[in-house]
Amino acid sequence: MKPLLFGSHIDSVRGGGNFDGDVGSMSALEVMATLNERGVKTRHPLELVVWAAEESNYGSGLHGSRMAAGLIEKGEFDRVQNGVSKRAAMKKLGGDAERIAEARRAPASFHAYLELHIEQGGRLDRAGIPIGVVEGIVTIDDYDVRVRGFANHAGTTPMAERRDALVAASQVVLAVQQIATGEPGAQVGTVGQMTIKPNAPNVVPGDVEFTVEFRDLDGAKVARLGAALKQHCVDIARATNTEIEVIFTSRHEGASATASVQAAIERAAARLSLRTMRLPSGAGHDAQAMATLGPMGMIFVPSVSGISHSPRELSRWNEIALGADVLLATLLELDAS
Ligand code: GLV
Ligand code: MN
Ligand code: MN
Repeated sequence: MKPLLFGSHIDSVRGGGNFDGDVGSMSALEVMATLNERGVKTRHPLELVVWAAEESNYGSGLHGSRMAAGLIEKGEFDRVQNGVSKRAAMKKLGGDAERIAEARRAPASFHAYLELHIEQGGRLDRAGIPIGVVEGIVTIDDYDVRVRGFANHAGTTPMAERRDALVAASQVVLAVQQIATGEPGAQVGTVGQMTIKPNAPNVVPGDVEFTVEFRDLDGAKVARLGAALKQHCVDIARATNTEIEVIFTSRHEGASATASVQAAIERAAARLSLRTMRLPSGAGHDAQAMATLGPMGMIFVPSVSGISHSPRELSRWNEIALGADVLLATLLELDAS
């Protein structure tokens, strides 16, 4: 019998909260402990997984689950962040990029992958519904943008002669906003990280590097937003006398949750007399990498006021417990099928 795989991640974003990922990982542990304590024997082996480095780093996220799914990106381990390559950073943490293939799981090697997670949006909380059944996860495209201007004295360089990389970068930030809001739909675009060099009050910025990400359930639309970004950058470079390079770093392909797993979550919640709501996920999850290998489903619990990736991220303990109950009950539903 193929194993039932379940869990989540335990890393957090910089400045994040205590619930994103941890709720699913700790609940999975609790489910395993409960089943052991009660001596429950399942037909399928149960395999608990705690993914590493789900949050975006080195130009892409879902590190552990992508490695397991064989979704390694071109040149990924040679990427450099803060002067350290990803290969070296992995080594420092006890990993080995040369042996990453050993982490690979074969396609169709598990019965289903199930992940409990906080919603990170406000729909469940607003509706007062304790359990979300995820329909699908967005596609995410990540870019690095490098702007080269010319660093020069802030007192003696006339405005007309400047090649200010930050002025150009600022225009790109506004272009991202305009691209994401320029058509109907739920697409989003974000510049979340920026490095300014030399980063001194009395020097015209010479180099600026920043990230751009676009998300939507429709992968073709996400690609189109990236193409629009490149066109804007050509125009902004010309207007600001700078050079702008747009480097596509990664795509995290969106995924639909498997219908039979969604149905199992709903049956499990119904057994526990809990109301459910089907909803999409605007956040990325390890589940989307697992979906490339086999059946996948996700259970959401409410995020208070829809706040996440913030220290104010909060989910109520009683609702987390209900989510863990549904996780356990869904595993038993899937085990029976
Ligand atoms: C993961 O948290 C993501 O959606 O960026
Ligand atoms: Mn996150
Ligand atoms: Mn997460």
